[in-house]
Amino acid sequence: MAQWHDIAPVEEIPPGTCRSVDIDGRPIAVINLDGEFYAIEDLCTHDGGDLASGDIEGDVIVCPRHGARFSIKTGEVLAPPAYEDIATFPVRVENGMVQVFDQPAD
Ligand code: FES
Repeated sequence: MAQWHDIAPVEEIPPGTCRSVDIDGRPIAVINLDGEFYAIEDLCTHDGGDLASGDIEGDVIVCPRHGARFSIKTGEVLAPPAYEDIATFPVRVENGMVQVFDQPAD
Protein backbone atom coordinates (compact mmCIF):
# COMPACT_ATOMS: atom_id res chain seq x y z
CA MET A 1 0.00 0.00 0.00
CA ALA A 2 1.32 3.41 -0.87
CA GLN A 3 2.19 5.23 2.32
CA TRP A 4 4.74 7.37 4.14
CA HIS A 5 7.46 5.58 6.10
CA ASP A 6 9.39 6.93 9.09
CA ILE A 7 13.12 6.93 8.31
CA ALA A 8 14.88 8.73 11.18
CA PRO A 9 14.75 11.91 13.25
CA VAL A 10 16.09 14.89 11.30
CA GLU A 11 19.15 15.19 13.56
CA GLU A 12 20.26 11.64 12.72
CA ILE A 13 20.82 12.56 9.05
CA PRO A 14 22.94 15.72 9.20
CA PRO A 15 23.70 17.83 6.11
CA GLY A 16 26.02 16.07 3.67
CA THR A 17 25.13 12.59 4.89
CA CYS A 18 23.03 9.74 3.66
CA ARG A 19 20.93 7.00 5.27
CA SER A 20 20.24 3.78 3.38
CA VAL A 21 16.93 2.09 4.15
CA ASP A 22 14.89 -0.78 2.83
CA ILE A 23 11.24 -0.04 2.14
CA ASP A 24 9.20 -3.06 1.13
CA GLY A 25 12.31 -4.70 -0.30
CA ARG A 26 13.37 -1.63 -2.24
CA PRO A 27 16.69 0.00 -1.28
CA ILE A 28 16.34 3.77 -0.91
CA ALA A 29 19.01 6.32 -0.02
CA VAL A 30 17.82 9.36 1.95
CA ILE A 31 20.21 12.28 1.60
CA ASN A 32 20.43 15.60 3.41
CA LEU A 33 21.68 18.33 1.09
CA ASP A 34 22.17 21.50 3.10
CA GLY A 35 19.06 20.84 5.16
CA GLU A 36 16.84 19.65 2.30
CA PHE A 37 16.05 15.94 2.18
CA TYR A 38 15.96 13.85 -0.99
CA ALA A 39 15.33 10.16 -1.58
CA ILE A 40 16.69 8.15 -4.49
CA GLU A 41 16.66 4.50 -5.38
CA ASP A 42 19.83 3.04 -3.87
CA LEU A 43 20.59 0.94 -6.91
CA CYS A 44 22.85 2.10 -9.72
CA THR A 45 21.31 1.55 -13.15
CA HIS A 46 24.68 0.44 -14.49
CA ASP A 47 25.25 -2.73 -12.50
CA GLY A 48 23.38 -2.46 -9.22
CA GLY A 49 25.97 -0.65 -7.11
CA ASP A 50 24.70 0.79 -3.83
CA LEU A 51 24.82 4.53 -4.27
CA ALA A 52 24.48 5.33 -0.57
CA SER A 53 28.13 4.46 0.00
CA GLY A 54 29.25 6.73 -2.84
CA ASP A 55 30.66 10.21 -2.54
CA ILE A 56 28.34 13.22 -2.51
CA GLU A 57 29.70 16.10 -4.60
CA GLY A 58 27.37 19.08 -4.48
CA ASP A 59 23.99 17.72 -5.54
CA VAL A 60 25.54 14.73 -7.30
CA ILE A 61 26.14 11.23 -5.98
CA VAL A 62 28.93 9.13 -7.48
CA CYS A 63 28.51 5.37 -7.75
CA PRO A 64 31.36 3.75 -5.78
CA ARG A 65 31.67 0.87 -8.22
CA HIS A 66 32.47 2.44 -11.61
CA GLY A 67 31.92 6.15 -11.14
CA ALA A 68 28.54 6.82 -12.76
CA ARG A 69 27.05 10.10 -11.53
CA PHE A 70 23.43 10.92 -10.72
CA SER A 71 21.57 14.05 -9.70
CA ILE A 72 20.37 13.61 -6.12
CA LYS A 73 17.54 16.07 -6.77
CA THR A 74 16.14 14.57 -9.97
CA GLY A 75 17.69 11.09 -10.35
CA GLU A 76 18.99 12.09 -13.76
CA VAL A 77 22.05 10.18 -14.91
CA LEU A 78 24.90 12.62 -15.54
CA ALA A 79 27.86 10.42 -16.45
CA PRO A 80 28.46 6.91 -17.81
CA PRO A 81 28.82 3.99 -17.50
CA ALA A 82 25.16 4.28 -16.43
CA TYR A 83 22.71 5.54 -19.04
CA GLU A 84 19.35 5.28 -17.25
CA ASP A 85 18.03 7.60 -14.57
CA ILE A 86 17.31 6.36 -11.06
CA ALA A 87 13.94 6.73 -9.36
CA THR A 88 13.33 9.48 -6.83
CA PHE A 89 10.81 9.42 -3.99
CA PRO A 90 8.88 12.17 -2.20
CA VAL A 91 10.33 13.15 1.20
CA ARG A 92 8.79 15.20 4.00
CA VAL A 93 9.53 16.06 7.61
CA GLU A 94 6.69 15.49 10.07
CA ASN A 95 7.21 16.44 13.73
CA GLY A 96 10.97 16.18 13.33
CA MET A 97 10.81 12.80 11.61
CA VAL A 98 12.06 12.31 8.04
CA GLN A 99 9.52 10.34 6.05
CA VAL A 100 9.68 8.84 2.57
CA PHE A 101 6.73 7.91 0.35
CA ASP A 102 7.07 4.43 -1.08
CA GLN A 103 5.99 5.27 -4.62
CA PRO A 104 8.41 6.98 -7.01
CA ALA A 105 7.92 10.66 -7.72
CA ASP A 106 6.66 11.53 -11.21
S1 FES B 1 27.44 -0.18 -10.78
FE1 FES B 1 27.36 1.99 -10.69
S2 FES B 1 28.76 2.64 -12.20
FE2 FES B 1 28.79 0.47 -12.35
